[in-house]
Amino acid sequence: MELKDIKNIAEDVLQSEREFNKKAGVSEEFWSFPRFMREEPLPPNDTVFDISREEMKKIWDVKIPIDEFYKIFEGKERSFMMLLKDCVAIITGAGKGLGESIAEEFYKEGALLALFDIQYDLIENLAKKLDFSRERVMAIKADVTDEMMIKDGMSKVFNKFGKIDILVNNAGISLHKPIKEMSVEVFNQVININLNGPFICSKSVIPYMEKQKRGKIVNIASLGGRTGRPGVGVNYAASKAGVIGLTQTLARELGPSGIYVNSICPGPILTEQTKQYPADVFASWNVGRAVKKDGLPQDVADAAVFLSSNKSDWITGVTLDVNGGILMK
Ligand SMILES: NC(=O)c1ccc[n+]([C@@H]2O[C@H](COP(=O)([O-])OP(=O)(O)OC[C@H]3O[C@@H](n4cnc5c(N)ncnc54)[C@H](O)[C@@H]3O)[C@@H](O)[C@H]2O)c1
Repeated sequence: MELKDIKNIAEDVLQSEREFNKKAGVSEEFWSFPRFMREEPLPPNDTVFDISREEMKKIWDVKIPIDEFYKIFEGKERSFMMLLKDCVAIITGAGKGLGESIAEEFYKEGALLALFDIQYDLIENLAKKLDFSRERVMAIKADVTDEMMIKDGMSKVFNKFGKIDILVNNAGISLHKPIKEMSVEVFNQVININLNGPFICSKSVIPYMEKQKRGKIVNIASLGGRTGRPGVGVNYAASKAGVIGLTQTLARELGPSGIYVNSICPGPILTEQTKQYPADVFASWNVGRAVKKDGLPQDVADAAVFLSSNKSDWITGVTLDVNGGILMK
């Protein structure tokens, strides 16, 4: 897209922003400017920029090169709205599904991101989409079951950003079969990624968090680990129940060092992982839901933002159910 096209779109957006600002009583000295094109190498939607009138004039009146155009927006995001401003966060399994959504929300909240996944192309694309300059987002190929790879990835994050504040243990798989048909290998494969993975990643991140006497670890468990849902497979349910135990014990061990550890138990959300289940099985997981709304990746991402921010500073060891009221306890 050429600069003139960007300007045209920007002008439309600006017009509605002017009206908004008028209503909101925003100072005449500043125009707020939203991110307006997700696919373009501009920051994604919803973020508001504070651009001075002089800078605005530059954008409209002078034929400036594209680099300078972007520079005008740099560091102008409204920081008071951001819950994770300049926090360094590692998200495992960030390539798609819930992990991708968590990454997008964290980015909007001002975090510096390290996306870990075994599918490098997915995280590389996401990193580019979020931050074309790549100053705020790293993509690191890392298998959560491989301690060397994880340690190496974390040291790269530390070398670039100088600290690690948040770890979201999200990577997980599901290989479901009735127990009579489940081999020991398939049982272990799921336990290895879903339970040993969070153990390895948490153990590896502790030294960084201890150094700064603060950290937040968020583990993505599952409703399946709370109640045993029909058809999820004993391997999956056991791995997620294990994650809840890991969370509570870690919260006690690490609390004195200022490290908070919590888990989120999402209810059924349509992603690659859950698409493999027959529709009637997926539907059965929603039986008894209190609200009409279907669960979305964004719902889990919002909970992860809260548990990673200082808004949850007296909460540790909890299992946060994010399931529209399917399970209440
Ligand atoms: N989708 C749901 O309804 C649901 C419900 C409850 C819990 N969860 C949990 O949420 C997490 C994300 O699930 P999703 O539905 O987004 O899954 P998904 O299959 O859409 O995405 C999982 C991501 O994890 C990555 N991954 C897999 N193994 C990995 C490994 N060894 N190392 C690093 N990355 C790896 C994959 O490449 C993929 O990008 C999982 O832990 C899952 O168990 C999902």
